[in-house]
Amino acid sequence: MVAPCPDPRAPQAPHRRRLITAAGAGLATIAGCGLVGGGQPTGRGSPVMDDFPPMPPGPAVPASAAALAITARFGRGINFGNMLDAPREGDWGLRVEDRFIALIGEGGLTRSVRLPVRWSNHAAADAGAAIDAAFFGRVQDVVDRLLARGATVVLNMHHYRQLDGDKPDPGDRLVEPAVAPLRLLSMWRQIAERFAAYPPQLVFEIYNEPHGALEPHWNELFSRALAVVRRSNPTRAVVVGPTHWNAPIHLPRLVLPADPNLILTVHHYEPFDFTHQGAEWIEPRRPTGVDCCDAAQREAIEAPLALAAQDAARRGLPVFVGEFGAYGQAPAEARLRYLRLKRDAMERRGMPWFYWELAAGFGVYDPMAGRYREPLREALFGP
Ligand code: BGC
Repeated sequence: MVAPCPDPRAPQAPHRRRLITAAGAGLATIAGCGLVGGGQPTGRGSPVMDDFPPMPPGPAVPASAAALAITARFGRGINFGNMLDAPREGDWGLRVEDRFIALIGEGGLTRSVRLPVRWSNHAAADAGAAIDAAFFGRVQDVVDRLLARGATVVLNMHHYRQLDGDKPDPGDRLVEPAVAPLRLLSMWRQIAERFAAYPPQLVFEIYNEPHGALEPHWNELFSRALAVVRRSNPTRAVVVGPTHWNAPIHLPRLVLPADPNLILTVHHYEPFDFTHQGAEWIEPRRPTGVDCCDAAQREAIEAPLALAAQDAARRGLPVFVGEFGAYGQAPAEARLRYLRLKRDAMERRGMPWFYWELAAGFGVYDPMAGRYREPLREALFGP
């Protein structure tokens, strides 16, 4: 149960990003090296870490034809961001609306949705983490309606702030630090069982952007989570990305269990000072007025993709970009240039992608006007 410590001298990706508290609540949970706090029963009938053994060790295996096919189907996708990943749906000004679902498949634009969900805020605070029935039903209904439109859906777990040692958001449910990683495993047991009979067009992503306090434990926690998913979903495609907010530069540290139905993901917001200029949730706030894309910025776009492509080829796994985008405060023309360059760089390497995001601060769709922001739509989905 105790994982070896990482080499503290190993290189870090530049700056990514927001507020990590040095003494965050999550650090008590995942302190030192190896997952702790789960070895002792937390109460009668409560799950403990030993109830979630990791995947058996074995030599790496290349991806199955099914995993390759489902990744190819992702094509050009969209993140339904700031909806079910807010502390409560609606807290960040957006809900998953019928009109958003109706966009999927419309005009051949996109048939792929990544659905970020803050499960941790809708589950019991103990190690069993029973997911609230109403919320579970809500997520299932959204998944059902997306699948009914012919979508491929990546259903994830997003913003379990305590696990990363981040500052909680207003409205976040705080739990005993000792049960935080166990709750992730218990939630995945429930999610996996609930969707076990679903078609392969539903894909699971265990955790968005592992970072901070979770980094030294990510390989182990992922292996345990995959094992629990595999009990009910022996062959469903499961997405996994590296630490440090899914930074491609951290791919070499990602040690994966032998499983032919894994898909690699990376997130790619470089050049960060351009894409996150003026973003309120980044500290320190990046100044606005940054242009794109000079030679250094173009290199910052290309190099991480080259790394990701190499790593995926070495492992024999497919890879896609689960998030990229530029916040709405970037100068308009530069933003379009950036999107076009990024899209071309990903597609030249045969990498499917999901734009961050549909209808909030990065949004390709204007929810007030009820239509796409045409220049953005064109840069992303146009010919
Ligand atoms: C986060 C969002 C954020 C985006 C860009 C995502 O992973 O979930 O909250 O807006 O990255 O920074």
